Amino acid sequence: MCGIVGYTGPKEAYPIVITGLKRLEYRGYDSTGVALLNGGLKVYKKKGRVAELEDAIVGKNLHSHTGIGHTRWATHGEPSDVNAHPHTSASGKLAMIHNGIIENYAQLKKELTNKGYTFSSETDTEVLLNFIEDIKENNKCDLEEAVRVALKRVTGAYVILLLDEENPDTIIAARKGSPLVIGVGKGEHFLGSDASPMLEYTKEVVYVNDYELAIVKPNELILKNLGNEKITPFVTKLDMELAAIEKGGYDHFMLKEIVEQPSTIHDCLRGRLDANAGTITMSGIQDNIEHFKKANRIIMVACGTSWHAALLAEYIIEELCRIPVEVEYASEFRYRNPIINKGDIIVAISQSGETADTLVAIERAKENGAIIFGVVNVVGSSIARISDGGAYTHAGPEIGVASTKAFTGQLAVLTMMALKIAKEKGTISNDRYKNLLLELEAVPEKVSAILKNAEDLKKIALKYKGASDALFLGRGYNFPIALEGALKLKEISYIHAEGYPAAEMKHGPIALVDENLPVVFIATKDSYHEKIVSNIQEIKARKGKVIAIITEGDDVIPGMADDVFYVPAADEIIAPILSTIPMQLLSYYVGIAKGVDVDKPRNLAKSVTVE
Ligand code: F6R
Repeated sequence: MCGIVGYTGPKEAYPIVITGLKRLEYRGYDSTGVALLNGGLKVYKKKGRVAELEDAIVGKNLHSHTGIGHTRWATHGEPSDVNAHPHTSASGKLAMIHNGIIENYAQLKKELTNKGYTFSSETDTEVLLNFIEDIKENNKCDLEEAVRVALKRVTGAYVILLLDEENPDTIIAARKGSPLVIGVGKGEHFLGSDASPMLEYTKEVVYVNDYELAIVKPNELILKNLGNEKITPFVTKLDMELAAIEKGGYDHFMLKEIVEQPSTIHDCLRGRLDANAGTITMSGIQDNIEHFKKANRIIMVACGTSWHAALLAEYIIEELCRIPVEVEYASEFRYRNPIINKGDIIVAISQSGETADTLVAIERAKENGAIIFGVVNVVGSSIARISDGGAYTHAGPEIGVASTKAFTGQLAVLTMMALKIAKEKGTISNDRYKNLLLELEAVPEKVSAILKNAEDLKKIALKYKGASDALFLGRGYNFPIALEGALKLKEISYIHAEGYPAAEMKHGPIALVDENLPVVFIATKDSYHEKIVSNIQEIKARKGKVIAIITEGDDVIPGMADDVFYVPAADEIIAPILSTIPMQLLSYYVGIAKGVDVDKPRNLAKSVTVE
């Protein structure tokens, strides 16, 4: 949460910083601000989105070769001009932006208040900045040293970037828990929460690690630990093009990312799955295959949509590999005292690879000796780097706040993982294995076929856009998709929605059913089909409106549902990937019909780097 950008070099800093902020807006959009060094420190900030700040400062002198910028997802203090970053220190000489939370800020604030400091904002950031300045003045040291001393007292998570009037070409940066990438150009450096602000300038980047401090000048990048020892920056080559983070003619990133799924799923399978040869090549699994074969238990940790992927993986892995699987919310797992035994494997699932709860959960598990396997989309992200092994989802940058293509990528990777382990363990028959490989290989084409009928979902969306609540029901492999469908609708349309196992509906939620309640059934042909048909009858008997996602050729459900949407036939293990697509499109069209900014729905942020 929160996006940070920085630039120092011969170019004009402002256009680079403001363009970078637009690309990072998915990380928060409560307020925007920039600080520029040009003979002195100039700070412009405002509640609202990047475009609003841009409009507000037209005509100002924005000339500068060193600047930082911030887009905020509010934690301490409501979204407002005064709480917007950058903050300036009491002397007015330092400016700072921050992504994260300073947990002991109240204590630090008390100490500073006792010394006579006053604060204009309610933020933890302003407290940390003045704490740094206070150390700088008292210890008569430079900013770098003051930051180092201050950070030893700080608990919480942060990426901070600081400007100092006295060193007009230097940005001081530090990280713990939140992401920081430094782009290395010719006589210039770029900083960002991810690599998107620097893509057109350089492909050479350094991922800064926790407890590292960077002194960034146009011609020099010095990395140090908090003990003031130098660290050699490890330069990585980015494998990402600018086009991947642009809308490419679509109205919204969300739609672009939904439509991209035939190719993102294909990219995920490419080079790994060969149905003809009957092989799955996943080096991350292969390197750890003995651990997986002997695993007593797999514990999956994730949040939100990624948690839904974990839940489906539980069903698939238990069925195919006969390994017990537990699925944990990372935020719960990290704070309880979970039992982790030798032979347990932790699988962390995350699109961003930066979700604070998931990251800390696996750090704790690692300390207890667990093997960590990451299923991550963002290459080089914190979770990817901390994992002992892993498999990337290869869905490409996901910009829309609601996860779409990353989710189907996770499902594809987790299914391949299950198949590979089952094959190695001998818990799957050759015929079933071969058939599932063929089924998986056919997914991109079937997703394309579903997308061709997107207009049908638009009509359904328009019919139900006025609903105040909705239920999503599924059984077996489709139950996690019901949860995902409900989550998507909530976040994109602000309609209250609940996902349930279809049979569980009788234990409470059925009380909500009346002629105004849309009930979405994910009712593709599988071993539960007859059971779910009965559940549909139960809803219809109470006059609920049934929207059913069904398999082509189903001639039973159309006679009882109010609306149906067909998906191609598939094995019941593979079908959930297909059923996901109508869930995404339905939410998208309802959101659009209601005028919601689907790429940036209210209160949300893409990368949840605070707990
Ligand atoms: C929902 C959504 C969130 C994320 C969750 C975890 O559409 O995007 O629920 O799935 O915040 O994020 P990652 O996968 O980045 O760890």
